[in-house]
Amino acid sequence: MRAAATPEWLEDAVFYQIYPQSFYDANGDGIGDIPGIIEKLDYLSELGVNAVWLNPCFLSPFEDAGYDVADYCRVAPRYGTNADLVRFFEKARRRGIRICLDLVPGHTSVQHAWFQASGRHQRNRYSDRYIWTQSVWDPGAPPLRFINGYSERDGAYGINFFYCQPALNYGFARPDPRYPWQQPTDAPGPRATRAELKKIMDFWLRKGAAGFRVDMAYSLVKEDPGHEKTIELWQEIRGWLDQRHPEAALISEWGNPSESIRAGFHIDFMIHIGVPGFPSLFFKSKSRNCFFDSRGGGTISEFLDEYTKHQRKIRGGYISIPSANHDMPRPGLDRSKADLEVIFAFLLTWPGVPFIYYGDEIGMRFLPGLPSKEGGFGRTGTRTPMQWDGSRNAGFSTAPARTLYLPIDPQARRPTVGAQENQPRSLLSHVRRLIALRKSSPALGAKGKMTPVFAEPGKYPFVYLRQRRGERFLVALNPARKPVTVTIDAPGPGEMRSELGRGATISTRGGRCRISMAGVSYGIFRLA
Ligand code: GLC
Ligand code: CA
Repeated sequence: MRAAATPEWLEDAVFYQIYPQSFYDANGDGIGDIPGIIEKLDYLSELGVNAVWLNPCFLSPFEDAGYDVADYCRVAPRYGTNADLVRFFEKARRRGIRICLDLVPGHTSVQHAWFQASGRHQRNRYSDRYIWTQSVWDPGAPPLRFINGYSERDGAYGINFFYCQPALNYGFARPDPRYPWQQPTDAPGPRATRAELKKIMDFWLRKGAAGFRVDMAYSLVKEDPGHEKTIELWQEIRGWLDQRHPEAALISEWGNPSESIRAGFHIDFMIHIGVPGFPSLFFKSKSRNCFFDSRGGGTISEFLDEYTKHQRKIRGGYISIPSANHDMPRPGLDRSKADLEVIFAFLLTWPGVPFIYYGDEIGMRFLPGLPSKEGGFGRTGTRTPMQWDGSRNAGFSTAPARTLYLPIDPQARRPTVGAQENQPRSLLSHVRRLIALRKSSPALGAKGKMTPVFAEPGKYPFVYLRQRRGERFLVALNPARKPVTVTIDAPGPGEMRSELGRGATISTRGGRCRISMAGVSYGIFRLA
């Protein structure tokens, strides 16, 4: 089946990721909630974002912050009710903001009714919903990890992440006859799981969700070299979606756009520590600094080579580079406002669909050293409450500080929305301007073509051209403290006008452009 076109609304989409427990607490119990997000819709409108990815908000024992779902079709009481979520969809939609939910198809919580039934001694319709070995003493086979002795069923169950996240059974690409518990993907158990997945998606899309960010989307079929069977599975789901909900967005946590876009996803994140390319932008390694660091010493090539490799292979679909997410440190960890401005100039002029992690737009810090909360471990410091203003608890909640979901950044000079919203030179105002420029300029949007103009290994600056339908922009980024000047071919006849920037100037003569850049500067120039 030929995939339908990618939903048009993604072309100028700018996503904002909301971690519901940490955004805004409307009822004063110390935990963010959906009514709280609704109260902050003005903020989202003013920021200019037109789409949201909401981290899991469903019933859960929260042993992995909600990625351990106990009921896919019920909002967790701590966040509100299903009616609150629907009200959020509707109110956001009236402002042109679409809400995508987090779908966790690979595993459930041990508390999910399916798993409880699956763990019974008596065979029942859920016995094959998860992956069970045939005896509690049969340890299974790696790389899948197994837990034994948890329930009355005489078997061990496979897990996807923590012990409490049993893997749903979508079958094995090539079941190994030595392990009779490995079922093929078209066995009745795996088929039933797949049907259930569609039901859940249909349930929320009918209620007004705009799509899904799909957790560990690559993980469904086990022992699947090249993810071929997992790709087939998603292609089938995408075919169904195109018929039923052609406007719905499918966004994968896969980390390999060459596979995921072929699988039918509209967007994949080319990220994650461990996936080549992305870390070289923001995280330094033992052997080199990262590109976005005022000390210099990074290289754009590692990222660009990887990006170009994927970009060449995908047809349709977008690659997304987010500012951060709930699993990785924030860019604000040890960077100045000027550093962050250059990073946002990059993120918001880059092709594909940008995602801003809540709080990054004001430069919130990653808080090191926090004790783990709800399975966060090293990720906990990136999940602290949004800093709204100078009032108690940074305006996040009226609850006593010790009962907050996580502590607020204790720094006296912590950034807040209140201190930045009416300051034209603040990071927040800067991000707002970049979003507005992007949304009004198709060349800067998801589909605008990107051509590297100056991208030398180990050198600064990084200069690229964006173009679409006659509109052209030149973007020059110098995240390093050292000033630098480059001369490049002019992108066309005509004047180059500075659209946004700081510390960068351009002059054109005889078909050549000379870009002079101060330390930590950027320029976005439009070809008039
Ligand atoms: C994804 C989520 C992460 C979660 C894991 C297991 O990587 O982003 O937060 O812990 O999947 O569901
Ligand atoms: Ca609350």
